[in-house]
Amino acid sequence: MIVSGNISKVRKVIKEAKRRNKLVGFVPTMGALHAGHMSLVKRAKKECSFVVVSIFLNPTQFGPGQDLRRYPKCFAKDTHLLRRAGIDLLFYPRQEAMYQRNHSVYVQEDSLSKGLCGKFRPGHFRGVCTVVGKLFNIVEPDIAYFGQKDYQQALILKRLVRDLNFSLKIKILPIIREKDKLALSSRNSYLSPGERTDALSLYSSLREAKSLIKKGERNPRKIINEMKRIILSKKGVKIEYIKIVDAQNLKELDKIRAPVLIALAVYIGKTRLIDNVIINVKG
Ligand code: PAJ
Repeated sequence: MIVSGNISKVRKVIKEAKRRNKLVGFVPTMGALHAGHMSLVKRAKKECSFVVVSIFLNPTQFGPGQDLRRYPKCFAKDTHLLRRAGIDLLFYPRQEAMYQRNHSVYVQEDSLSKGLCGKFRPGHFRGVCTVVGKLFNIVEPDIAYFGQKDYQQALILKRLVRDLNFSLKIKILPIIREKDKLALSSRNSYLSPGERTDALSLYSSLREAKSLIKKGERNPRKIINEMKRIILSKKGVKIEYIKIVDAQNLKELDKIRAPVLIALAVYIGKTRLIDNVIINVKG
């Protein structure tokens, strides 16, 4: 495994791989890798003959007062996991390599990023689109892998690829969960044991929503109220949003129609967690 933070070197290594007809798979991350990230890496390994992973804690997607400073950093463990997974290249750039001091160009998506997390994290998706656009230009992958865990992000990045004519395919892979169904997240490490238990209410509420829809409920308000009841039964929990939207355009629905995305963001104490399910409704 080659490890480099040098953009010219990384370009050169990838150019050489392409010359040898390798199919380049790419998994962008911010590090603190867990089984969710590694599921993307495994799929990339299965489908591509040259796999690139990036670790870059991107400052432009964090707002003031968000957790950029305390975001977990575990480079030694991350490299160990990636080496074991057999990836070819780890791109680990320093902040100064990615952003010149007077950088002044950003990429902004103007429709899908308005709702859900975008409403509560102004500038977040602008930072994500900017850094991922830069990474795509550096790595020039054939296929890039993203998790449904950040479904809105993945959909926005598909739009980025379509609208700015990037020549690659984006694949969105399922959410990896702990045995007790908590979605894996680098931020789970912030939770105290009590908070960790309270966090299970996120998936319980999504499971209940799924079951209500299966039983024929088609009124989003009623489903959201039931989800709120489950989550708010825990103390010290604050709901940022619970939304039921069209899974293709993220527009809110007044009646459940297939396929729907049920997405939520909840503060467990000081930790903001997100989760979602996509439901294919029949009839
Ligand atoms: P990060 O949070 O490190 O996530 C990297 C990738 O792992 C994302 O595509 C995310 O959706 C996926 N992922 C996280 N948890 C997952 C889980 N439990 N199951 C499956 N996939 C999971 O998302 C980012 O980094 C950044 O915004 C980035 C795209 C790298 C741009 O900075």
